[in-house]
Amino acid sequence: MTNKYMYFIANWKMFGTLKTLNSLKKVISFSDNFKKNKLSIIYCPPTTLIRPLFKKLKKSSIEVGAQNCHESKSYASLTGQINSGMLKDIGAKYVILGHSENRQTGEDNILINKKIKSSLKSGLKVILCIGETLKEKKNNKTNKVLNSQIKDCLSGIKNYSNVIIAYEPVWAIGTGKIPKLDNLKNNILYIKKKFKKKSIKVLYGGSVNGKNINDLKKISLIDGFLIGGESRDPNKFIDIIKKTYN
Ligand code: PGA
Repeated sequence: MTNKYMYFIANWKMFGTLKTLNSLKKVISFSDNFKKNKLSIIYCPPTTLIRPLFKKLKKSSIEVGAQNCHESKSYASLTGQINSGMLKDIGAKYVILGHSENRQTGEDNILINKKIKSSLKSGLKVILCIGETLKEKKNNKTNKVLNSQIKDCLSGIKNYSNVIIAYEPVWAIGTGKIPKLDNLKNNILYIKKKFKKKSIKVLYGGSVNGKNINDLKKISLIDGFLIGGESRDPNKFIDIIKKTYN
């Protein structure tokens, strides 16, 4: 059982239409009544749904975030791109950056660092995803990878108060697999130690579901969860939140 403040972040990826938003009524009334002031629920839908969701959630404590943004803080002739200021303008409070699905299509730590700086300047809170691939894990490179992702992505940033880390082993995302609890605990501890005395929130992400949450919640160092697939079903999402506190 936990009694600490926890984050529950729903990453909808490229799923969802206006109609889908109706299914959130359940989560809204749940959040109105469940452990207020003990948790943050943040929905990160596709960009197309940020504004309508923001309006829907106006009276609720649930917040809205984006899934990525362009690194430029200024407006520019960049067809198809959206910057952090534009996300803030339509109601986003958070932005997920460095997700492995975007790293796999070419985003590196240097680019992610630029995106983080731009987002913080725009007043967004950043959820920075880090994590090793299966190959890196097998080659015992996990710490090395986490270290360089933290160092390079956060280079030049001194104030971490608006940064949350989401530790998401790449091999655990969407696979149904989660790390062994001992390994996970060590990796979370390793990340937290990197920040020394500056306390930072570290979430876990990767195949979180209504079963494994009973084990994951035992790791008291974890400050919350970044949830993909299971967050698209309001019942499953609520179930995970409830079980975290049971
Ligand atoms: P998953 O996704 O829960 O579907 O594994 C997590 C994520 O990619 O953030």
